[in-house]
Amino acid sequence: MTIRPEQPQPLDDPGPPIGTAPTVASWTTDVAEWTLDGTWDFRWSPSSAQRMDEGWGSIPVPTSFVMPSLDRDAAPAGDHGRPAYTNKWYPFPIDPPHPPDANPVGEYRRRFLLPDPPPRAELRFGGIEGAADVRLNGVLLGSTRGSRLPMAFDVSGLLETENLLEVRVHQFSAATYLEDQDAWWLPGIIRSVVLRARPVGGVRDVRVRAEWTASGGVLTVVPDLEDDSHGDATIEIAELGATLTAGRPTPIPDALPWSAEDPVLYTLRVRTAAETVTHRIGFRTVGIVDGVFQVNGVPVSLRGVNRHEHHPRLGRHVPPEVVTAELLMMKRHNINAVRTSHYPPDPMFLDLADRLGFWVVDECDVETHGFGEIDWRGNPMDDPRWEAALRDRVARMVERDKNHPCVILWSLGNEAGEGCNVAAMADEFRSRDDTRPLHYEGDQSSAHVDVWSRMYAHPDEVAAIAAGTEPALADQALDARRRAMPFVLCEYAHAMGTGPGGLTEYQDLFDAHPRLMGGFIWEWLEHGVQVDTDRGTATRYGGDFGEPLHDSNDVIDGLVSAERSPRAQLTDLAQVFAPLRLTIDEARLHVLSRLDHTDSSRYALRYRIEDAAGVRGSGSIPMAPLPPRGRVTLDLPDAPPSAVLTIEVVQVGETAWAPGGWVVSRSATAVPGEITARRRGVPPARRLTLADIDLDPGTGGLRRLGEVEMTDWRLMLDRVPTDNDRHAGWDEILDFSYAERWRLLGLHDLRSRLVSLERVSIDHPDGEIRVRTVVGGPAVDARVSCRWRWRAVDGGIRLDLTVEPEGHWPAWTAHWARVGVGFSLAGEGRLEWCGRGPGPSYPDVGQAATAGWFAGTVDELQERTVRPQEAGARAASWMRVKAGGRALEIGLDTTSPRGPVNDPAITVRPWSDAALWAAAHDDELIPDGRTHVVLDLVRAGVGTARCGPGVLPAYRLVAQPVRGSLQFLTPDASGTNGDRHV
Ligand code: GAL
Repeated sequence: MTIRPEQPQPLDDPGPPIGTAPTVASWTTDVAEWTLDGTWDFRWSPSSAQRMDEGWGSIPVPTSFVMPSLDRDAAPAGDHGRPAYTNKWYPFPIDPPHPPDANPVGEYRRRFLLPDPPPRAELRFGGIEGAADVRLNGVLLGSTRGSRLPMAFDVSGLLETENLLEVRVHQFSAATYLEDQDAWWLPGIIRSVVLRARPVGGVRDVRVRAEWTASGGVLTVVPDLEDDSHGDATIEIAELGATLTAGRPTPIPDALPWSAEDPVLYTLRVRTAAETVTHRIGFRTVGIVDGVFQVNGVPVSLRGVNRHEHHPRLGRHVPPEVVTAELLMMKRHNINAVRTSHYPPDPMFLDLADRLGFWVVDECDVETHGFGEIDWRGNPMDDPRWEAALRDRVARMVERDKNHPCVILWSLGNEAGEGCNVAAMADEFRSRDDTRPLHYEGDQSSAHVDVWSRMYAHPDEVAAIAAGTEPALADQALDARRRAMPFVLCEYAHAMGTGPGGLTEYQDLFDAHPRLMGGFIWEWLEHGVQVDTDRGTATRYGGDFGEPLHDSNDVIDGLVSAERSPRAQLTDLAQVFAPLRLTIDEARLHVLSRLDHTDSSRYALRYRIEDAAGVRGSGSIPMAPLPPRGRVTLDLPDAPPSAVLTIEVVQVGETAWAPGGWVVSRSATAVPGEITARRRGVPPARRLTLADIDLDPGTGGLRRLGEVEMTDWRLMLDRVPTDNDRHAGWDEILDFSYAERWRLLGLHDLRSRLVSLERVSIDHPDGEIRVRTVVGGPAVDARVSCRWRWRAVDGGIRLDLTVEPEGHWPAWTAHWARVGVGFSLAGEGRLEWCGRGPGPSYPDVGQAATAGWFAGTVDELQERTVRPQEAGARAASWMRVKAGGRALEIGLDTTSPRGPVNDPAITVRPWSDAALWAAAHDDELIPDGRTHVVLDLVRAGVGTARCGPGVLPAYRLVAQPVRGSLQFLTPDASGTNGDRHV
């Protein structure tokens, strides 16, 4: 029986909640339950000192009450606060354990009827963000702390036929110092509220230990009954014909193991005279053997994502159908692991992860990152006053989630620094569960954890760790201990905006080294907030709600939008994470299985041969099932050099997440070398001649080619910065972002000087037009000298372009984003291309873009980002741009420099670069009726500098001579046929 407090917990009390009942595992029961979700009365005040409005409005529960678009018209207060976003900063003075006076309060009230009120019952809150005082029928039940953790109150003897539940949520309290995660501040009742009858002799809790051993399953079940006994319960798994005695380990020889690849679950029933509870359990054993992370005796590689809980309209509450959809989407994109950054998820997430198969790192609701900004002075993690609260958070997470097979690691929290409470929390974890290793990235000597974790380490550093050649720790014993640990990247590849570059480099390391457990992309989801505007809906980020202190769009850094639409990087990730890795060299196909527990019989290989005229053949490539981590080399079907051979890995039969035939990954040979083999469609009716070229005599720029008029013909060396371009990589010596370097050189504002324009025998077949320009930014003497040589060649007009740096290019800034030619065409456009697609690519991203022929309207080819930036380039070496009823057909080739930056591409947009530069939000971009084109001869990668390494050396475009050609093939509109649509 819990003791009910007389007073609410003071807001500056750093201790655990008061009046709450111990946390138990979540399960299904047959006793009466009532959900109290739905519409509640609500009122708000900007601080507890201020009087509440007299009147009450209403609000849906669960939600975060500050969300701007909640349906709360009836609320008289009008304003319920606004979302506010900071990454690390506390939005108030760091004065622990005190919250600020300006501390908004949301008061909730709900009346409910119980025709037959149970004498004994428990009131359960899945999560209340903030610190709440809870009253039932006028009786104070207690005060909550720990926003994303469960809290329950014993309400036995308090229920009546008519009931009044009151919850007063203070946004800030001492507990806020423990919840400084990089996310919006979103107070409210954020998870379900349930009332559950508790019969005498019912089941209070169940502890399940379902191990997988060399001789099969071994199950131990310890029920905890309401009458304080452990006996008198029937424990059985009907499917396995198993009946167990409480507390006794029982071999279950017929059981199959649980893994993320084959998530076999069984229904465990624990029955007393008063109650039957049902649990879905899976048999699996987690271990670390010789420094290698293993499940069920075999090494496991985590291809994971970090997942926050966020909904663009509801805030921290994510409805079950959205959670289901996102987990299905993860499975379809070959993600096999989730770190629940940075707090335990809604329990429904774990139920689904058990069922669909994910390895889960369950992370406690602890982050004190803002103390890092003040050199960790006063950090609660190193202050004994907070120990009880931190232990309580561990207890609540472990007790709620202990029986989930998907949970394979406990994580103590995120970015909370070091100190005495790390040891205390580790002790609390180990005393409650010894079946899972412990993770905490903040413990850099790994003194208290079982796996070594880092975030955003450079691939070179990861390679050193993989080889065991990392620098030694000063303490020899700790060093030896850490060297014997597996290594995980709890965060890497920051998926913000265009990027992240370098996924392949990391995955290659994970594939090759058993010490590496894999890692978790930062992050699954963008946290955009949706608002209604005159033109529909729009997405907002930090600072858009008037927060004086904010971190702008840092919260928009996911593989999917807040609405869960996939970004291009998710498609690339699926390719990089594919269960079967395909590599083509010469006429051979190398297949590597990344499966750890199952053979490859769930997948089959299919091929397609396609040339400019369309698909020429298709079929399947036989492959015997590969054992886990097996590999094989196969012969490829014959394909002519003018064709592209594409191999696809397809799923055999239906799964819970994808239909049979689902394409898991693909690989293809290169695009054909000859332009004639790449061009698709009807040959031009008329060949272009030099007479079709109209150059501006003042600038030397092209203004008409045949019937196609163009404006803004210019050389381009920069791009509208991506989120990554706005930062220096962590491996850079100088703290200058790429965008700053380009700006210092004036690359955003290039001016061209015409040196000469010569027409040499242009009536003769060997005639040519030669243009020389010098292009540079204002105020600097870093320039490029450009030679533009126009000739008539077989098949059209060819422009050879040479760009050579001259003047002074300081070594540390001498990086370009691209060497490209920009221009604009009248009318809205459409693009057909041969190159890589259908998605975008840059030298270090676009792993999913394989060779072929593609098409789409300019509108369809936009990769929208919440904050506008460079995006959406298509690798292309032949293209037809149609705009305003005219067509321009172009072949694009680069002869230098060599390497991955030599990646010719086209970008088409319905707005100008100037508009893209100026827009701060996607909804500010309005098509201007023209088609804006950039043809890149070479371009730089995008890296992941916002958080992590910059552009890796192979993908940097150092200022250097560049030579390439543009071949114009058609002067007028011509037909298309058979292209694959994007
Ligand atoms: C990490 C942190 C994440 C997130 C990320 C940047 O340091 O753990 O929560 O802030 O950086 O987006």
